[in-house]
Amino acid sequence: MILGIETSCDETSVALLDDDGSVRVNLIASQIERHQPFGGVVPEIASREHLQHLFPLVRRALGDAEATWGDVETIAVTAGPGLIGALLVGVAGAQGISYGLGIPLIAVNHLEGHIFSPYLQREGPAIPLPERFLSLVISGGHSSIYDVRGGRAAMLNRTRDDAIGETFDKVAKFIGLPYPGGPQIEKHARLGRPDPKRFPFPMPQFKEYRGDRGQGTGDRSAPVPFDSADFSYSGIKAAAIRLARQHGVHADGDAALLADFCATFQDALFAQLFDRLDTIWSRLDAPKPSDVAIAGGVAANGVLRERIAAWGAQRGVTVRLPEKRYCTDNAAMIAFAGLQKRAEAGDPRRVTARSRIA
Ligand code: KG4
Ligand code: ZN
Repeated sequence: MILGIETSCDETSVALLDDDGSVRVNLIASQIERHQPFGGVVPEIASREHLQHLFPLVRRALGDAEATWGDVETIAVTAGPGLIGALLVGVAGAQGISYGLGIPLIAVNHLEGHIFSPYLQREGPAIPLPERFLSLVISGGHSSIYDVRGGRAAMLNRTRDDAIGETFDKVAKFIGLPYPGGPQIEKHARLGRPDPKRFPFPMPQFKEYRGDRGQGTGDRSAPVPFDSADFSYSGIKAAAIRLARQHGVHADGDAALLADFCATFQDALFAQLFDRLDTIWSRLDAPKPSDVAIAGGVAANGVLRERIAAWGAQRGVTVRLPEKRYCTDNAAMIAFAGLQKRAEAGDPRRVTARSRIA
């Protein structure tokens, strides 16, 4: 079995998977209540909580899987990106187990974990990975589309400002809905109808020069700028706050107004997602990917799941929707990503926690 360890943010998670990607156990100790009084994740508290929970969770995972240390052949740990103190707890713990048992350690990029997560099943072996798939990682911290070929992910776009989940959360907070905002907005949106005349949201468009990823590194002398496929959610966020103020939208106010506002706001966020997906899809060389997979917390959204399924059906593309339990942070996805890079398993001393990964 492979042991997965995830401690990059505010969830301590430990999983045990078989070689074929069957999830034997996937345990998650959430710290959300410890951070709630502060209105966000406090890094020092996160590190201490991970320290307290990690080893009891590893022992419980072995017990639940009716396994012993001897059954663990490899360890996969999230090495970054994330909170450095939080990552260090998982990495040091994994190194300790790796030394102690004399088994190899694999460093996993947290985003690789999300990217492969749609292929994990609730029960039984993982779905075999296709040769090429397009991955949308949409969470509180990330909004990027990747071209994944032979298990290697190339980033095709990113957000220039806020992540999509972050935009859900910030606007929800402004109108008085509790954290996390995404599921709250979805719930109210279901009761309303989009009204773009009353609530007009922008669709940001900007130009890009070849080689430029929005960081001013591109060749500005290149003659033809083209439409950028990058995301930008700060304009929708600003518009939402202005419109909510103007119309008096609030969690404790007019329920119909709140529902219509949420429906229109959610539509605007997803309209941009599909606009970028269409642009990127049209630019991909043939043979195009067989699958489009979505991952991350926002992939739990029911409206998005329906729309992306329809998008795929229209084009004859297989759409992979992750089990909701594998959308948010978990160690099963880390162990599964570890299985994809078994060739890199090795000396635990080579593994280093990094808060940012280029
Ligand atoms: O992947 P995740 O657990 O953590 C990060 O790495 O950020 O994603 C959390 C994000 C939050 O922004 C939350 O509001 C959003 O996912 N989210 C949703 C839904 N469920 C969670 N957004 C929209 N609709 C949902 N149903
Ligand atoms: Zn994540």
